[in-house]
Amino acid sequence: MLVPRFMLKKVAALLALMVVWSSSAPMVESAIGVNWGSLSFHRLKPSTVVDLLKDNKIQKVKLFDADPDSLRALKGSGIQVMVGIPNEMLTLLSSSAAASDLWVRQNISSYMGKGGVDIRYIAVGNEPFLTSYSGQFESYVLPAMQNLQQSLTKVNLAGYVKLVVPCNADAYESSLPSQGAFRPDLMQIMTPLVSFLNSNGSPFVVNIYPFLSLYENSDFPQDYAFFEGTTHAITDGANVYSNAFDGNLDTLVAALSKLGYPQMPIVIGEIGWPTDGAIGADLSAAKVFNQGLINHVLSNKGTPLRPGSPPMDIYLFSLLDEGAKSTLPGNFERHWGIFSFDGQAKYALNLGLGNRLLKNARNVEYLPSRWCVANPSRDLSDVANHMKLACSYADCTTLNYGGSCNGIGMKGNISYAFNSYYQTQMQNSQSCDFDGLGMVTFLDPSVGDCRFVVGVTDTSAASQPYRNWFIVWFLILLGVWVLFMI
Ligand SMILES: *[C@@H]1O[C@H](CO)[C@@H](O)[C@H](O)[C@H]1NC(C)=O
Ligand SMILES: *[C@@H]1O[C@H](CO)[C@@H](O)[C@H](O)[C@H]1NC(C)=O
Repeated sequence: MLVPRFMLKKVAALLALMVVWSSSAPMVESAIGVNWGSLSFHRLKPSTVVDLLKDNKIQKVKLFDADPDSLRALKGSGIQVMVGIPNEMLTLLSSSAAASDLWVRQNISSYMGKGGVDIRYIAVGNEPFLTSYSGQFESYVLPAMQNLQQSLTKVNLAGYVKLVVPCNADAYESSLPSQGAFRPDLMQIMTPLVSFLNSNGSPFVVNIYPFLSLYENSDFPQDYAFFEGTTHAITDGANVYSNAFDGNLDTLVAALSKLGYPQMPIVIGEIGWPTDGAIGADLSAAKVFNQGLINHVLSNKGTPLRPGSPPMDIYLFSLLDEGAKSTLPGNFERHWGIFSFDGQAKYALNLGLGNRLLKNARNVEYLPSRWCVANPSRDLSDVANHMKLACSYADCTTLNYGGSCNGIGMKGNISYAFNSYYQTQMQNSQSCDFDGLGMVTFLDPSVGDCRFVVGVTDTSAASQPYRNWFIVWFLILLGVWVLFMI
């Protein structure tokens, strides 16, 4: 196509303007990423999740394992990935160099290279120093890292892929941030670990949960968990802390300084707010917390001990709700997503990545619009065992005190439990029987904020034969119809 000369000039001027404009835009120092966990009854296809990340301009994702389906879907996406090693694998990797070599070859190097997955970090264990593990993983962490580092060197990835250890915030403690120190029982481990991180140019990764502080401690001041200002500021010498996040972060900075690494870069491996399953876990609190956090971090204000230098990366917990997670920490555990399990945004959130709002997942393949409910014409007095069984398998956490479905009445409870189970069974008709107490309905039984879900058609592998059968049946019916028409 011919472009007139004067037009070319205009284009050139426009280009010049764009260059000037983009280079004068403020440099964003922190990057916002997300955790992508997969403990769900209704897993979205990995390719759908990767599209969701791309549509929301999310450039960094943290996984909890090296799931081949997720990694394959991330190929060529340009998204930077943190791959995880479950705590249970640390014993093996710490004791066998061969196992470590194999792990790196199978789960890291085979995916990398041109058009592959851009793996930047390996998380060695997940919160392995948590007090509730009573030390069972502690001694394996550093030896596993040493083996893995050698394995990475063998495949020429040691400079590019960095080993990190996502730590729970209970690895350090103090009443005042400036007095921060690692737990005395961890000193023997933390001293060489932090030195190892430093010599490999790795950041310290920590998970920070003001929600849990609030949930576990009724004296914790509500407004100190958020970023909107507080009437309970903490004064620490010349420094004043107005939010738990800064206070927690500086406690870590002080602990690292005590070991001789005051400048060690910090990454927040997990941070977020749940939307259901407990008092204080709701949509508006989650929105206020996450938006406050993102704005705070992107303002580049930093903390009193690190003015002007916020954490280098922040991974929100979490991308999606995971309905199959353990409820041991609390019913809220299945509701951390900024998106529901099916990739629908729960509230308005500006991630600071270019879109002003979250974009929903596209092309989600739902099961048919039908639900399983309690049969109104039956005597339901003998339903307790059915409900118990349904809820022990499926997710009923929203029914409890503080949940979005608490208060839908006894029949509502039963229907909710039946439906949750029915959907996890991919709407198999037998799974709505419950000795004749259940029935399938085509009317959405959702009430107010209480959503009765419809499942999604599992992973690509599971949905493929289903779709093929659908096509076969369609062709047969079409054939019959054509025969009739002739
Ligand atoms: C690779 O990672 C997967 C998922 O975490 C794990 O099941 C598998 O055992 C790993 N491969 C090796 C060789 O350890
Ligand atoms: C519904 O179930 C929840 C959770 O078990 C319970 O707290 C609530 O009291 C139940 N409602 C009725 C009316 O039984």
